[in-house]
Amino acid sequence: MTTLTIQPGRRFSGKMTVPGDKSISHRALLFGALAEGETVVTGFLESEDTEATAGCLRAMGVRIEMGETVRVHGVGLHGLHAPAKELWTGNSGTTTRLLLGILAGQPFTATVRGDDSLAQRPMDRVAIPLRLMGAAVDGQGDRCTPPITITGGRLRGIAYATPVASAQVKSALLLAGLYANGETAVTEPQHSRDHTERMLRGFGVPVEVDGLTARVHGGGRLAGQHVAVPGDISSAAFFLVAGAIVPGARVTVRGVGVNPTRAGILDVLHAMGAKLSIANERLEGGEPVADVTVAHGPLSATTLDGSLIPRLIDELPVLAVAAAVAEGTTVIADAKELRVKESDRIATVSRFLRDMGAEVEEREDGMVIRGGRPLRGTDVESHGDHRVAMSAAVAALAAGVENRIHRAECIATSFPRFTTLLRTLGARCAEGA
Ligand code: S3P
Repeated sequence: MTTLTIQPGRRFSGKMTVPGDKSISHRALLFGALAEGETVVTGFLESEDTEATAGCLRAMGVRIEMGETVRVHGVGLHGLHAPAKELWTGNSGTTTRLLLGILAGQPFTATVRGDDSLAQRPMDRVAIPLRLMGAAVDGQGDRCTPPITITGGRLRGIAYATPVASAQVKSALLLAGLYANGETAVTEPQHSRDHTERMLRGFGVPVEVDGLTARVHGGGRLAGQHVAVPGDISSAAFFLVAGAIVPGARVTVRGVGVNPTRAGILDVLHAMGAKLSIANERLEGGEPVADVTVAHGPLSATTLDGSLIPRLIDELPVLAVAAAVAEGTTVIADAKELRVKESDRIATVSRFLRDMGAEVEEREDGMVIRGGRPLRGTDVESHGDHRVAMSAAVAALAAGVENRIHRAECIATSFPRFTTLLRTLGARCAEGA
């Protein structure tokens, strides 16, 4: 277990790129595997989570060559083999849920299992609709937590209204829909990230989107593609928030994905009064990309709720840090989903901010943060959650204090270069056992 000690340096500034988008990297492997021909992926995120996806696909007979460019040798929609052993999905909810969608269409039985955190995460949200489509899905307890054994079947298309705005649920059902008879339609309560819709179209599968409903027809084929993965805005978030709240900072992140279904953090930083500029907006591989610069300045409180929440769900831990520094009371509501992420992020983020001296009230679906109190350095328990660990690092830099972040090795699930980049910008980081 690694303890990461973070202290501010003399400056915190620079221009940088962040690793490839995690959501898009997972999808590039999964869709590439189901395609006919080769898929070439540039800008791919190498991390423990995406390695889990690659490992599961390899276990079903897909050849994947990792390197600066990733090559996926597609086996076609019906070319996967039954795995000889359990599929290990590690810490990755995206791997687990999207894979269940694919496995629902296979003529074999497979078991997926992950780490202790994954074993707490609800999979009933995909199991229920996949059963309606005709798959047999057996998990643990009421919420169908992993390990899960799934036997694919002849699937029928369904029209399903999911109670949660979740791109993982939507994607699992659209993937299963590729194997189903007729049309599969998923309606969400709010828009979640739309990388699956965009990328499936890139692979040649028509996906119709009508308001909050996305539809696919079974029986199509995917054709191998070049996928250019943009920088991950969820990784950039730590540097953008640091740029706004670390005294004297100025940070530019180049080539970051600014898909509107993901870019809620930019709207919030703007609403809080951050010195934010967006340049070179362009489309790369079907995804909007830009260079984003943030400079330090005073922030004011804001409200985060409603349809904004799915557009920044993974950024809420670091936005809570911004709220603790801002003047006034920030309310985060409608964010109950935070309770079922890699940790219960309402609890884990509130705890470390309070330990630093912030005034945070925990609510069932969010937090109320009264900002502007002086913060002190502390010991932070990451609870094995990468985004909690990285948010605590940003909090130390902003407050000008030292945080000792325990179980920080989890950062490698999404962002193995995080501390290297922090050092490049001027922070002091030491890793110890
Ligand atoms: C993801 C969707 C989101 C997000 C997760 C990645 C995806 O989860 O929090 O980090 O790649 O589809 P939900 O679909 O559960 O909201």
